[in-house]
Amino acid sequence: MGSELTYRGHEPQPTSDSYSPKPTKPWSTVVTPPITYILREQRLLFVLIGIIIATIFFALIPSSQTIYVSKPAHFIHPPRPIYRFNPGGKVPLSLKRKGLRIVVTGGAGFVGSHLVDRLIERGDSVIVVDNFFTGNKDNVMHHFGKSNFELIRHDVVKPLLLEVDQIYHLACPASPVHYKYNPTNVVGTLNMLGLAKRVGARFLLTSTSEVYGDPLQHPQVETYWGNVNPIGVRSCYDEGKRTAETLTMDYHRGAGVEVRIARIFNTYGPRMCIDDGRVVSNFVAQALRKEPMTVYGDGKQTRSFQYVSDLVDGLMRLMEGEHVGPFNLGNPGEFTMLELAQVVQETIDPDAKIEFRPNTEDDPHKRKPDITKAKNLLGWEPKVALRNGLPMMVSDFRRRIFGDHKDNSVAITVGGLRGTMEA
Ligand SMILES: NC(=O)c1ccc[n+]([C@@H]2O[C@H](COP(=O)([O-])OP(=O)(O)OC[C@H]3O[C@@H](n4cnc5c(N)ncnc54)[C@H](O)[C@@H]3O)[C@@H](O)[C@H]2O)c1
Repeated sequence: MGSELTYRGHEPQPTSDSYSPKPTKPWSTVVTPPITYILREQRLLFVLIGIIIATIFFALIPSSQTIYVSKPAHFIHPPRPIYRFNPGGKVPLSLKRKGLRIVVTGGAGFVGSHLVDRLIERGDSVIVVDNFFTGNKDNVMHHFGKSNFELIRHDVVKPLLLEVDQIYHLACPASPVHYKYNPTNVVGTLNMLGLAKRVGARFLLTSTSEVYGDPLQHPQVETYWGNVNPIGVRSCYDEGKRTAETLTMDYHRGAGVEVRIARIFNTYGPRMCIDDGRVVSNFVAQALRKEPMTVYGDGKQTRSFQYVSDLVDGLMRLMEGEHVGPFNLGNPGEFTMLELAQVVQETIDPDAKIEFRPNTEDDPHKRKPDITKAKNLLGWEPKVALRNGLPMMVSDFRRRIFGDHKDNSVAITVGGLRGTMEA
């Protein structure tokens, strides 16, 4: 059987007569040079538009800090790159910063709720995770109904899966009267680090100056390893935070999680838990109620007191910055307990009495942060002096203790934190 090609089409084939050559491009002729063509056809305009678009794009390239967890086998979802403004590039004013999705564990507590205020104000989407052990819905109620705010009642000792870019981990009872009954540091931190690893989020641990224990070095520098009793009544907190720091660094080194560690020194301000045994809240509540202020020991032990807006500023700088830490965040102004009692007397009641009681076990004698590292690497230092911050706290405590809603107060702003003070 011979092969045979058969023409099956029914259309007539084009004949060479129907061919007409394309018109010649004007610039291909010798008489019209290419530059004239570019100008006439507005090609230059398109080139300029291209350059502008490229400039805007490169001004917003993903931050170099964005890391991808080195073991893809552990991923459930690939991490979202965190977009930040390239500080070197010029960004047109009309372009807004991209909001992040942020979890704040313990966000209904004292520090957490002030942090949430700042993040919401910045335009981020915030999820507060809190079991209300020491926190309170009232602290975040003013955000209810906002589309970028969510509140989840959850105990961090149980795992949780959320899609987020950053995790501020604050959940933990922070005062002696509470942490004895609910030591959540280790398991809670482990769970939140697990979440950070899974979703590729950046994780910030709020550790404490208590990791230095009863320090043998003064003031305390981050390189000091501390002097902590591992089996005392305070050790569930002190050692719990030390273990939390260890876990945080292990997840960083072993699993590539981006972490930040803050060692927070005594902080005070509005929304502090009343009667939680912390010295500033104790003195203020006692003086307002006309009870004697309880000083443990001889009152010569020293502490530093940081206003909450300064701390929130430090935490946010640390989270956004390039450095892991740990960083001391505290006010280096050092006061003895008796000096603090005196400032409270000046602010609330000059006739307030002082009552001495035996000191509690393992109470540190001295505490004062060396904040050189935070100054140099984060460009951070506290701005609010005790005498300026205390009246803001007193006004808030007065309202909460006496249900005093009389508006004899004036609105003021201290360190970026809005509040009221007696007129
Ligand atoms: N305020 C300070 O002076 C200070 C000093 C050093 C360190 N810190 C650290 O800062 C963080 C916040 O402290 P704070 O002063 O705001 O205390 P806080 O008690 O006001 O806030 C802690 C919050 O965590 C919540 N919480 C506790 N256990 C939880 C759990 N298992 N699951 C979910 N939520 C839980 C509480 O309900 C509360 O809302 C703590 O980690 C604390 O250790 C605070």
